[in-house]
Amino acid sequence: MTGSNIAVRSKAIPVIDDVTFEALYSNPYPTYARLRRDAPIAWLSAANINLVTRFDTIKHIDAHADAFPAFDQKSLMIRAMGHGFLRMDGAEHRAERMVAQKSVTADLIRNHWFPRFQSIVDDLIAGFEHRGEADLFTDFAAPMASRCLMELLGLTNVRWQDLCTWSQSLMDAVGNYSDDPTIWSRGEEASRGIDDALDEVLGDKRSTPDPTLVSQMANSSAMSREKIRANVKFIIGGGLNEPRDATLTAMYCLLSNVSQLAKVRANPSLWSNVFEEAVRYCAPIGVYPRTVANDIELDGVDLKKGDRLGLCIASACHDEAHWRNAQAFDIERPKRNHLAFGSGPHLCLGAKTARMQVGQLSVPALVERLPGLSLNSELKTEFAGWVFRGPTRLPVIWDSGNGSAKGLSRQP
Ligand code: HEM
Repeated sequence: MTGSNIAVRSKAIPVIDDVTFEALYSNPYPTYARLRRDAPIAWLSAANINLVTRFDTIKHIDAHADAFPAFDQKSLMIRAMGHGFLRMDGAEHRAERMVAQKSVTADLIRNHWFPRFQSIVDDLIAGFEHRGEADLFTDFAAPMASRCLMELLGLTNVRWQDLCTWSQSLMDAVGNYSDDPTIWSRGEEASRGIDDALDEVLGDKRSTPDPTLVSQMANSSAMSREKIRANVKFIIGGGLNEPRDATLTAMYCLLSNVSQLAKVRANPSLWSNVFEEAVRYCAPIGVYPRTVANDIELDGVDLKKGDRLGLCIASACHDEAHWRNAQAFDIERPKRNHLAFGSGPHLCLGAKTARMQVGQLSVPALVERLPGLSLNSELKTEFAGWVFRGPTRLPVIWDSGNGSAKGLSRQP
C-alpha cells in the first residue's frame, strides 16, 4: 500500500480506491496511518464514506456542531431505530440528553449502580471460577455488559441473550449500506421486541419512578412514547458492545503484556489508566457520522453542503501528532484526553458509567479472582471490525485450585 494510489484533484476530496473492505475489517490501523499522513480527509471507496482521520480535525468538527450537525436526512440509524437524541442537534438534543443524564449522575453511579453492577460481576465470576478455563467473551463480557445495561435501562423483563441479539441486529441495520432485506427484517424484529418489552414496563415506571433510564424518560414531558422507543434502541445498540469490547481489549492487553499486568498488580491506582489506555488503544466505536452544513474548506479540501463525514476516532487515538508510540499499550503513558468517547455535545453519556463498570469492577475483579490467569496459548484471540472493533473471543486459563490451569483441550 503506497501513497501513489491517491487520486488528488485540486482541493477536491482525494479518492482512495485501493483499500479493500476486508483489509479495513481485519486491521484498519495501517490504512489510518497512511490516511493521516497523505490524505487526512479522503473518500474511502470500500467504505462508501469520507473519512476524517486526524485528532485535531475531529476535535475541531465536534467543537463546531452548528457547522457539522449530527442529523442526517439519509441516516440509516433513524430508519432502523427512529429519531433518538444521538442524531439531534442544538436545543432539541440538549433537552432530551438532560433527561437521560439524570440516570448517570456521579452520586447514582457511586451509590446506586456500583453495588448492582458489582453483584452482576461477582455472580458471573462465581459461575465459572471453579472451571479453570473460559472464553471471557461468552462467559463474562457479553452477559456482564447485557445484564448491566438491563439494570441501567430498567428493562429487567427481558433475557440478557435477547438484549445481545437485539443490539447486534440493530447495529447491523445501522450499517446496512448494501440495503440487504434480511438485515432490515432482523432489525425490524429487534425493534418490535424492544417496543413490546418497553410497553410492559412503561406503566410501572411512570407510577413508581426509579433511577433507571426508562423511568427518567417515561416521567419527562419532553419524551413521547416514540421518542422513548428510539432513545432506548440506540442505547441498546451503543451501550452494550462497547463495555463488552473495552473489557476484552483491556484483558487481552494485560495478559499479553505481562510487565504491564505486573505494574498494575503492584500499584492498583493504575486500574483507571488500564481502562483509558484500552479504549485509546482499540476504540470500541471507531467511526461516527456528521454532515457538512455549508460549503467549507477543511484540511486543505473543499467540503460541500450535505457531504457526509465519518469521524474516525480510532485513528485519532493513534495520531502520531498527539501520541508517542501510539501502537503500544502503555498504562504509564502521560495523561492526555483521548477521543474514544467522542467530544463536543454528543460526548458519550455513559462514559463515567463505563469507567466504573469496566475499569473499576470487571477488569480488576477478573485479574484478582482468577489466580495465574493467562491467555490460552492454544486458542488465538483475534480483533475484528473497524466501525465497531474488539476481540472476537478471549480464551483464558487459570489455576482453579485443582492443581493446575485447565482448558487446553477446547477446540477453536
Ligand atoms: C467503553 C464504553 C463506551 C464507549 C467507548 C462509548 C463511546 C461513545 C461514543 C464515541 C459516542 C459518540 C457518538 C457520536 O457522537 O455519534 C457515544 C455516545 C453515547 N453513548 Fe457511549 N460509549 C460507551 C458506553 C456507553 C454506555 C454504557 C452507555 C449507556 C448509557 C452509553 C450511552 C451513550 C449515549 C446515550 C450517547 C449519545 C450522547 C449524545 O448524543 O448526547 N455509552 N458513546
